[in-house]
Amino acid sequence: MDRKRTSILISGRGSNMAALIAAAAEPVFPAEIALVISNDPEANGLKMAVQNGIPTRVIAQKDYSSREEHDAAIDAALREHGSELVCLAGYMRRLTAGFVEKWSGRMLNIHPALLPAFKGLDTHAAALAAGVRIHGCTVHFVTAEVDAGPIIAQAAVPVLAEDDDARLAARVLKAEHRLYPLALSLVASSRAVLRDGKVVHPGRNPG
Ligand code: GRF
Repeated sequence: MDRKRTSILISGRGSNMAALIAAAAEPVFPAEIALVISNDPEANGLKMAVQNGIPTRVIAQKDYSSREEHDAAIDAALREHGSELVCLAGYMRRLTAGFVEKWSGRMLNIHPALLPAFKGLDTHAAALAAGVRIHGCTVHFVTAEVDAGPIIAQAAVPVLAEDDDARLAARVLKAEHRLYPLALSLVASSRAVLRDGKVVHPGRNPG
């Protein structure tokens, strides 16, 4: 089987990265993890990646004089490792439009809300403040506009009366860890493809 070489960009904890690594440890999974890149040398996820035998690179913005140069260094590392797909997993830095364009249709992100609701940060507090009864997470293709790319997959969780930010975040995070491997497997096996700004499912019977 042709397993798509997939690299992961992180900035912190790396629990979604760990879920992707665990899924890709199965030989039948259609993606293999080629490289983990962090822009923060202190990111916890780096240790976890090393423990799993995955190559890691720290590419920190402080070492570059512009966003373009920083993203060019990331792009070079991705290509050096033969990356075909890129997963953003808690990567906390905005990417340049040029970089996003290069990886169009091949770069995924996970967002802790049911987009297009609650874009940006502090999504769980926003969901609680809005009083929604259903919350969740979204995996989407990355486009130049943050949290606005075409949706690949979503998972919903209930909002319970006794929820606070932390309880709700934990329930969503569990769903994220199931959803991201599923979404990556759809893209890696070409069952979800970005075409003309929309996600299509080649081969799926419309009836
Ligand atoms: C996740 O909630 C993800 O949806 C968001 O950032 C968080 C990263 O968590 N983009 P982790 O580093 O994967 O544990």
